[in-house]
Amino acid sequence: MRVLGIETSCDETGVAVYDTDRGLGAHALHSQVDLHARYGGVVPELASRDHVRRLVPLIEEVTARAGVALGELDAIAYTEGPGLAGALLVGASVAHGLGMALGRPVIGIHHLEGHLLSPLLATPAPTFPFVALLVSGGHTQLFDVTGVGAYRLLGDTLDDAAGEAFDKTAQLLGLGYPGGPALSALARDGRDGRVSLPRPMLDSGDLAMSFSGLKTAVLTLVRRHEAEGRLDAAARADIAREFEAAITDVLVAKALAALDATGRDQLVVAGGVGANRRLREELSKATARRGARVFYPDVAFCTDNGAMIALAGALRMAEARPGDASAFGIRPRWELASLAPPAA
Ligand code: KG4
Ligand code: ZN
Repeated sequence: MRVLGIETSCDETGVAVYDTDRGLGAHALHSQVDLHARYGGVVPELASRDHVRRLVPLIEEVTARAGVALGELDAIAYTEGPGLAGALLVGASVAHGLGMALGRPVIGIHHLEGHLLSPLLATPAPTFPFVALLVSGGHTQLFDVTGVGAYRLLGDTLDDAAGEAFDKTAQLLGLGYPGGPALSALARDGRDGRVSLPRPMLDSGDLAMSFSGLKTAVLTLVRRHEAEGRLDAAARADIAREFEAAITDVLVAKALAALDATGRDQLVVAGGVGANRRLREELSKATARRGARVFYPDVAFCTDNGAMIALAGALRMAEARPGDASAFGIRPRWELASLAPPAA
């Protein structure tokens, strides 16, 4: 089965063709980072308009590269939510228009389900069941995953998401948007132990997390350095390094606690922050020490992309019953734990 995947939930237009026999055929991404950079964050109306401009040419490019004619597609999957309403509507409209024209089923996918299943695109791939650490710009959650659509929420952030903390801290340090990759690059120049930041809720005894206090602690640190005339490039790098270490310590501890709580021996990391090198290194070491395995998507599939939507669509369509296709719609707010397995 060949599935076209369309992702337009935020500031990236992603398209891919996934073939259940041959794997990923082709994929392409158009990032709007340059478009929003001068505003310091995503401007929803600009995002929607850019998806309108990019989506159809990207579908033409990807299907051509995959060597698949539109008529040879078996289904079309699109991100139904959560995300920016206007941006989601572009993907939904194109997906349903195409489905109607081709007489093919259209399936709406939860964006986070796409992220969560994205490690299945890699080799080796995990097998169900596994624990998933979902760390993106809007979410920091741990799930027990027993199959497609079977996601039990184990732990969540009480306030900011890890990616949001990266972005806000990057802003405080004068780095651009999006901040995660820039902050991580700066942290490489930093020195250990020069400054100290808290590890929020590290010993809370549960799987809850919190990152807004960390951001406030960085603000205090930056102000103090500024007041003392010491906020030079080296100090910025030291703060970035300690911030990355603090977030990593918390995420690693909570992920290991989730493995303990469920008895699983596979951990899957997904979402934009999953591209972070330090987090990957520390998780790999910590899981290896206890005989567990950790799986990451390729870095290209950590952040938003069409491949994860095509894959989730293919997995759902494979088990769907006739008539399970989605009606036209978007869900800007949508809880992942509310999903059910296909044909349930
Ligand atoms: O999953 P994603 O692309 O979009 C959402 O669905 O939110 O995640 C974006 C987030 C941003 O906050 C970005 O700063 C962060 O992922 N991010 C990183 C890295 N690459 C992206 N954070 C830390 N280190 C990175 N290398
Ligand atoms: Zn995402």
